[in-house]
Amino acid sequence: MKRPDALITAGPTREPLDPVRFLSNRSSGRMGFALAGAARDVGMRVTLVTGPVHLPPPRGVRVIAVETAREMERAVIRRARGAGLIIMAAAVADYEPAAPSRQKIKKSAATLTLRLRKTPDILAGLGRRKKRGQILVGFAAETNDLIRNARAKLRAKNLDFIAANRVGIRGAGFEAEHNAVTLLARDGTATVFPRTTKARLAARLVRFILKSASRC
Ligand code: CTP
Repeated sequence: MKRPDALITAGPTREPLDPVRFLSNRSSGRMGFALAGAARDVGMRVTLVTGPVHLPPPRGVRVIAVETAREMERAVIRRARGAGLIIMAAAVADYEPAAPSRQKIKKSAATLTLRLRKTPDILAGLGRRKKRGQILVGFAAETNDLIRNARAKLRAKNLDFIAANRVGIRGAGFEAEHNAVTLLARDGTATVFPRTTKARLAARLVRFILKSASRC
């Protein structure tokens, strides 16, 4: 059977405050890069849209580097129609500075208040435009109420699967070499993928998702 093309996102986004500063998060990009490698290894043609990371580009994968959530949205939307499998592993910033300064913000008062506005929810937008047969996968980074919060995101964003990922603990999730997830499916099933290297976890997730989707 011919494999669908895959579109995968990775890494953090950076939201500029001024020409030298930005808001970002602790995502290393490793999970998304591992997923791109895993999708390539099962014979898929893979496009990886990534925020700023310190990782070598995976061999045989088309890499598109972006910086902000808005840039990531543009890059993803443009390529989404042709993709049979989309995995949003990027840790997209939820807020951006409402009025980034063109000049470096000078130190003056003792406190400084930043006004932020929401960035576009890329995955929710993909869920609204989902084509028949397209497999849409999200990640839910949670510090608490992991399964409940992840299930709510799966429904709200019209996903086929969501990988519930506990963050804020040492040795798994953000910045770590290893990870563990519970994969929730649209049909209500939950599958535990125990802690292992991100490369092994990615290979297991990609195989599982393709196999489950081919049964639907
Ligand atoms: N996501 C996205 N665009 C955003 C924010 C998140 O596409 N602006 C995607 C992420 O790539 C991930 C999923 O949505 O696949 C869930 O991200 P997460 O940060 O866990 O949840 P949020 O929807 O941002 O909700 P909250 O931060 O309140 O938990």
